[in-house]
Amino acid sequence: MPPVALVPVFGRSPEMNPIAAESRVVNGDLRDRWSRDYRTVRSETEKRAAALSAEDQVVQSMPDASPTKWHRAHTTWFFEQFLLQQHNPRYQQFDERFGYLYNSYYVSVGPRHARPQRGLLTRPSLNEVAAYRAHVDAAVAHLIESGDAATLASIIPIVEMGMHHEQQHQELMLTDILHAFAQNPTHPAYDETWRMPRCQPNSDGLAAIASGIHTIGHDDEGFFFDNEGPLHQVFLRPARIALNLVTNAEWIAFIEGGGYTTPTLWLSDGWATAEAEGWDAPGYWQKSGGQWFMMTLGGLRAVDPSAPVCHVSYYEADAFARWHGKRLPTEAEWEVAARSGALADALGVVWQWTQSPYTPYPGYRPMEGALGEYNGKFMVNQIVLRGSSLATPDGHARLSYRNFFPPSARWQFSGLRLADDGN
Ligand SMILES: [Fe+2]
Repeated sequence: MPPVALVPVFGRSPEMNPIAAESRVVNGDLRDRWSRDYRTVRSETEKRAAALSAEDQVVQSMPDASPTKWHRAHTTWFFEQFLLQQHNPRYQQFDERFGYLYNSYYVSVGPRHARPQRGLLTRPSLNEVAAYRAHVDAAVAHLIESGDAATLASIIPIVEMGMHHEQQHQELMLTDILHAFAQNPTHPAYDETWRMPRCQPNSDGLAAIASGIHTIGHDDEGFFFDNEGPLHQVFLRPARIALNLVTNAEWIAFIEGGGYTTPTLWLSDGWATAEAEGWDAPGYWQKSGGQWFMMTLGGLRAVDPSAPVCHVSYYEADAFARWHGKRLPTEAEWEVAARSGALADALGVVWQWTQSPYTPYPGYRPMEGALGEYNGKFMVNQIVLRGSSLATPDGHARLSYRNFFPPSARWQFSGLRLADDGN
């Protein structure tokens, strides 16, 4: 095969992301590597699903959470729709009905099954979904292995996009099954060995952010989603950001200090939500015999005071910060401090709420075509979270990564760190 030099449109930071490091190798045959990386990502999905029964994989416990079986099929549809059908004229669809069943939100692609009713899809069966995955995997492998350099240059960015898309769903598989299991009075464990890490030992210190012009966003080296770019300058006033994540012990103090019963701490929408939902503690917490317990992927566990608080909404995080006389960091403050290396547990523990609305960066350009629906159309009424969580797959985290959820969401692995104005 002739040597190929690929420069992915969407890449990764090689020090953090083993998926894409090979893309920097030029004049080499990357086919085997892309095939291998594709298989690695796809097998992680199956690995995460393997602990779940057929019944587990069908249930949908709320409209925002999708069944495991749906995640497995939808991530497959993504490759079929955006890669195989666009780049292989001879590709034979596995089942033409699957486009309707497993299109998530791509309006320009066509009509789709209603999201809140994904749990009603007892058919196709798990076996059929497994066969669908195998069918698409074989076709993708063939496309990568048989394509000439020009073909590879056009398909690799889509392959890579699909891999990172699938990694996003791998995290959702865990958040969604936790929500399902949390509805079960027997408190099933997804993984008996699951443990939330304790916060890194550190001081209660704050990292100072100097006033002035700073640069944030992705630098075009390696994979990134379109919402992370372009690299741009922001002006920051003096600020300080906590080195550590907020812990469960601190959150219990907030509860016992009247945090959930003091309306002046809360945004109006937050207070209304807390009242309507009966919130008196983070998601999945329950009190028994005077002690707090929480539902985890390891089953029901006593709340560990030294672990970072998790499953809090933006509304709760904001109220907690106000109770402390502080505030949440902006996403720019978070990124500047994280890039300096000052923050403990910036990645890999819990996503961290910022106070920044999810809006486009100056000069933002969505991807062309239907994939332009991936991020841009959600840039209203949502809040940015930074970092990553212990459920985030290896190789998926970046300091420029912009996660986003509505302010009431708390079924994700979401926590916080505090900030102030540096006075
Ligand atoms: Fe998706």
